[in-house]
Amino acid sequence: MYLKRNGKLIFLIVVLAVALLAAGCGGKQQAQQEAKPAPSGEKVIKIGFIGPLTGDVKTFGESTKNGFLLAIEQAGGKVGDYKIEYEIADDRNDATEAVNVATKLITQDKVKAIVGSVTSKCSIPISKVANDNKVVQISPTSTNPKLTVDEGKRKEYVFRACFIDPFQGTVAAKFALDNLKLKTAAVLYDQGNDYTIGLANYFKEAFEKGGGKVLAFESYAQNDTDFSAVLTKIAKLNPDILYLPDYYQKVSLIGKQAREKGIKAVFLGGDGWDSKDLDFATMEGGYFTNHYSADDPRPEVKTWVEQYKAKYNETPDALATLAYDATKLLLNAIKTANSDDPAKIKDALQATSSFPTVSGKITYDKDGNPIKSAAILQIKGGKQVYVDTVSP
Ligand code: PHE
Repeated sequence: MYLKRNGKLIFLIVVLAVALLAAGCGGKQQAQQEAKPAPSGEKVIKIGFIGPLTGDVKTFGESTKNGFLLAIEQAGGKVGDYKIEYEIADDRNDATEAVNVATKLITQDKVKAIVGSVTSKCSIPISKVANDNKVVQISPTSTNPKLTVDEGKRKEYVFRACFIDPFQGTVAAKFALDNLKLKTAAVLYDQGNDYTIGLANYFKEAFEKGGGKVLAFESYAQNDTDFSAVLTKIAKLNPDILYLPDYYQKVSLIGKQAREKGIKAVFLGGDGWDSKDLDFATMEGGYFTNHYSADDPRPEVKTWVEQYKAKYNETPDALATLAYDATKLLLNAIKTANSDDPAKIKDALQATSSFPTVSGKITYDKDGNPIKSAAILQIKGGKQVYVDTVSP
């Protein structure tokens, strides 16, 4: 009765509330995406961030965004004589969308540098846009070599804060052979993703070189969800290792089906496993190569973990850490160049030497790749457990 009599009023209140809420949210988003106009006279530098904030690897986007924002916050929103303004963009882990948002950041928002993206499959197409437009790009996490060098040509404006996959694949192969003393492997990878193709091949090469045998080298398409045919084949071969170089959602799915087929192999993988949304029960006992471990006793890691926890209430993963490191590398280069000219910023970045970051000291080789060590982690008791550090 009450509702009926006051229907109109309630309707009005609801409409008003929704409108207010929408205005509130919009305002907040705007505050985050468009930095406030600087008081006249103040110099401003615009930086873009790109990550998969939605889609199949969204924990990657969330973590990297957190790391990026914390680095800017700790810098007091300033670098040298410049006030930092930033734009956040979501590529949904889709290569076409990645190019679209990068183009918008460069042509409309006029960013001088981009931190991003996360996955190689998005960062590689972005790198072409950034380099052609002479805008600096630093990917925190994209490990495929093609990011900075394509067909022998260095993309001078493009850098990364992480090691590259020839190293990562070799570390995994050596660990399997030398530490686990396992001699046979099956490899299963996504045939439409540069990251997983690369890692599969680098692993195979190093594993065979070290005296191991790859019994099966099989691939699937990106949208596949049923792996029974290929897993039946692998089960018959009974490999010691099943190498799964893909992202957390896919490896969790494959791992589950592999166990259902009775495959007893030790699961082994790469940095793509690093997510709180990995299926820890399924992947129990497995090992993966990564960029850092929160259990590393180095003091800079301890401080970082504390600061991150204080702000976001969780332990930073490698993605958050690398995004923080990448942003600091970029800010350091802007400060050193004392300019917002991307040509000068990229020269300063290239000249970076022994710059201390959480994930290690960074010196760039001629291809814009840092030489860094890898951490080996195990999934044990529903957690990531630090096993070893391997230096190049
Ligand atoms: N290395 C992955 C790629 O190139 C991205 C990634 C890095 C994912 C670190 C998780 C952790 O696509």
